[in-house]
Amino acid sequence: MTFNFAGTAEILVAICHRVAEKGFVTATDGNVSVRLPNGNILATPTSMNKGFVTADDLVEVNVDGSQLSGRRKPSSEMDMHLFIYKNRADVNAVVHCHPPYATGFATARIPLNECLFPEVVVNLGAIPLAPYATPSTAEVSDSIAPFVKNADAILLANHGVVTYGKDLWDAYFKMEKVEHAAHSVFVARMLGGEKPLSTEQVQLLRNISVESYGKDFSGKIACDTGIAKPEVELNEEEYKFIVDEVKKRLSRKPEETKQ
Ligand code: 13P
Repeated sequence: MTFNFAGTAEILVAICHRVAEKGFVTATDGNVSVRLPNGNILATPTSMNKGFVTADDLVEVNVDGSQLSGRRKPSSEMDMHLFIYKNRADVNAVVHCHPPYATGFATARIPLNECLFPEVVVNLGAIPLAPYATPSTAEVSDSIAPFVKNADAILLANHGVVTYGKDLWDAYFKMEKVEHAAHSVFVARMLGGEKPLSTEQVQLLRNISVESYGKDFSGKIACDTGIAKPEVELNEEEYKFIVDEVKKRLSRKPEETKQ
């Protein structure tokens, strides 16, 4: 296969500009990388506004993170990118951003793990939440370790989101999906709360994806179906009290309920 390095760098730059235009990053937030056919990684430099990145600013590192080319320093999140490549032979691109709605969920420590949107159910499954880790340290890799093999998008508590996929556009589109899902859940909560799809509805979507697109769901974190869980966790005693109270009220005669 002839490798068109220039084409890859251009796509990476186009994605940098797109995340900036979309408001998925501010100031110098975010980083993007791609695995090259020689096994090295082409990535954004540290501390640059993604809207201004050009192909000339990109850096190349090897799998150990040693810089091979580029006049700028590599992203401070290279460790997380390399960790994902090491753990996922099927992944060739990683996008890390701080999109406001998804980062809001990550900061409220709410994973996007319900089965809500058909497109998300079949393409991402659940979007888990990794515990807080100091950005730019190896802690970030440790925090995503439990999810990296079974998810393609992870919320990073009080930080942002990381998505990855078979190529740059795949990884980027997953970032768009996560932010759109977070925004839509936020709106649904303003309107009385989201209603998850049922197990049967999810199974039907998966069957169609397997039959029409040959998708493989094995090993992926499945989303939660059914009725949204109450926001307040009840202990057994509290739960029993509420059930008894409801039963009592339902069995009252109409005149007893007037007070
Ligand atoms: P870099 O500028 O070093 O890529 O870091 C930005 C960022 O978003 C850190 O999480």
